[in-house]
Amino acid sequence: MLEEGWRRVDDYIAEALISKEEAQETTLVANAREKLPPIDVSPPQGKLLQLLACAIGAKRILEIGTLGGYSTIWLARAVGEGGKVVTFEVDPRHAAVARDNIAREGLSARVDLRVGAALDMLPQLESEQGPRFDFAFIDADKPNNAAYFAYALKLSRPGALIIVDNVVREGAVADPAITDSGALGARALFEAVAAEGRVEATAVQTVGAKGWDGFLIARVR
Ligand code: SAH
Ligand code: DHB
Ligand code: MG
Repeated sequence: MLEEGWRRVDDYIAEALISKEEAQETTLVANAREKLPPIDVSPPQGKLLQLLACAIGAKRILEIGTLGGYSTIWLARAVGEGGKVVTFEVDPRHAAVARDNIAREGLSARVDLRVGAALDMLPQLESEQGPRFDFAFIDADKPNNAAYFAYALKLSRPGALIIVDNVVREGAVADPAITDSGALGARALFEAVAAEGRVEATAVQTVGAKGWDGFLIARVR
């Protein structure tokens, strides 16, 4: 019943504030047809990412975990013409679907999609010594969240935002009885962020079409 209500309100928010075109139903339909897991951010969450990226004038965004490119497309809109989203995806099948979705939205020039395990490929990105990132969205395998956060921090400019998805997991993060790799990954992330003097951070719980979860939000000092 609660969850049903959360979903209804997410639909209401989207209906009221997010145009059909913005909500990229075509992308979600394509992802479902290709049997990708339905774990993209929700439309209100995608718009939140876009708004935050726009608010800080982000031109370069790092994303870890592309899936079908749903969040990537929201972020690619935020960077505008000439901006860039560098996004990592380990599954070539997911990446192929993402590439099509991004092309359909006319955003291919703004997206640098790299296929492989992110931790294997981040050293290469670092060695390119490109301009620092203004914004990072971490949404891949949860056990590596602390390692991804360390890279995002290293590659970001002062004032950048680093956002990590799925840090609450139905409350698992704060339940010591739950010790699956996702919960452990989330706790390791909180500990790493807490011990990191170069960022200030919070986390917000969310409910909606994606259940009970949350974003960690850090700002690089
Ligand atoms: N950000 C997407 C959802 C990502 S789902 C959106 O909101 O639309 C998580 C993705 O991370 C999956 O596609 C999974 O294949 C990918 N992933 C898992 N482990 C990874 C790794 N080690 N490196 C890069 N991507 C990984
Ligand atoms: C899962 C991963 C996600 O990124 C998400 O938003 C929801 C669920 C998962 O692996 O189950
Ligand atoms: Mg996620």
